[in-house]
Amino acid sequence: RRCAPLSDTSSTETTQTSELADIEWDNLGFGFLPTDYMYLMKCAQGGSFSNGELQRFGSIELNPSSGVLNVGQGLFEGLKAYRKQDGNILLFRPEENALRMRSGAERMCMPSPTVEQFVEAVKATVLANKRWVPPPGKGSLYIRPLLIGSGDVLGVELSPAYTFLIFVSPVGNYFKEGLAPINLIVEHESHRAIPGGTGGVKTIGNYAAVLKAHTAAKAKGYSDVLYLDSVHKKYLEEVSSCNIFVVKDDVISTPAIKGTILPGITRKSIIDIARSQGFQVEERFVDVDELLEADEVFCTGTAVVVSPVGSITYLDKRVSYGEGGSGAVSQKLYSVLTRLQMGLIEDKMDWTVE
Ligand code: COI
Repeated sequence: RRCAPLSDTSSTETTQTSELADIEWDNLGFGFLPTDYMYLMKCAQGGSFSNGELQRFGSIELNPSSGVLNVGQGLFEGLKAYRKQDGNILLFRPEENALRMRSGAERMCMPSPTVEQFVEAVKATVLANKRWVPPPGKGSLYIRPLLIGSGDVLGVELSPAYTFLIFVSPVGNYFKEGLAPINLIVEHESHRAIPGGTGGVKTIGNYAAVLKAHTAAKAKGYSDVLYLDSVHKKYLEEVSSCNIFVVKDDVISTPAIKGTILPGITRKSIIDIARSQGFQVEERFVDVDELLEADEVFCTGTAVVVSPVGSITYLDKRVSYGEGGSGAVSQKLYSVLTRLQMGLIEDKMDWTVE
């Protein structure tokens, strides 16, 4: 693809809002659709965030010298709002995203909004864009909070100012397969994270680091890439966009949180749901060879929800799961999680916020 002429890219005009009437609610994928409002809040280095406000959705002004563009001081979050049958809207565990942004900000030397500021900002942004929350069962409103270094830097230094932003977009299924099983390939050359690095926080650079393998895998027809640890090169880490679970004889295993994988909020919720359903769940080192023996494999994430894995390819060997269909364990967990998120079953854990 050719780059747009400079006159197009330097435009400061407000991005056009999509027309609600043009949205095909039955056909939502996972792509950006501009909505009406975004939320902005600023802070100087050493200060604290205050005076956040909603603004019409549009481009933001950022100097070429800003910290996020030069040294990559940036984090993002992802959470979803669901429309209930009665028309009200539910958020799923927003304070968990606030806490994860705070721990990521600490690793990236950035100030961050308080949990209360974060949750209030999410609520305000969703309410301002409520006409974009899909009808019940048709998808969700994906909420993308960002925290970026927005002050000037030249050397390796802290940005003198920071911006917290939230934008939203209506979404459907993350993978083009929809709810059908996905096909993964194990990456054995590049790695997503190293011990002591930033793999355990949701910094923007983690996603840039996976683009090469991810793009190559998609070009070969795979849905996504499964990464191995960078030290032993044999333990499962995570998929570019989600966490991974392996089922064998009613025991569900998933890589332990040890600084190189994202502490997923869906991961944590699925572990609790699985235990409450009587499954044994182990958080531990999971050897890549265990994929050969597994009864079922699935992925979890805010965007992907719970996605069954149909096959995994590793060094030209392809293992398939289930009889061409999704596994019983992941289907059960998907059903409990999504019914909770949509307000269809009682929320005994107090995870949803109306
Ligand atoms: C999410 O699941 O919300 C994420 O942030 C993953 C992203 C790559 C879509």
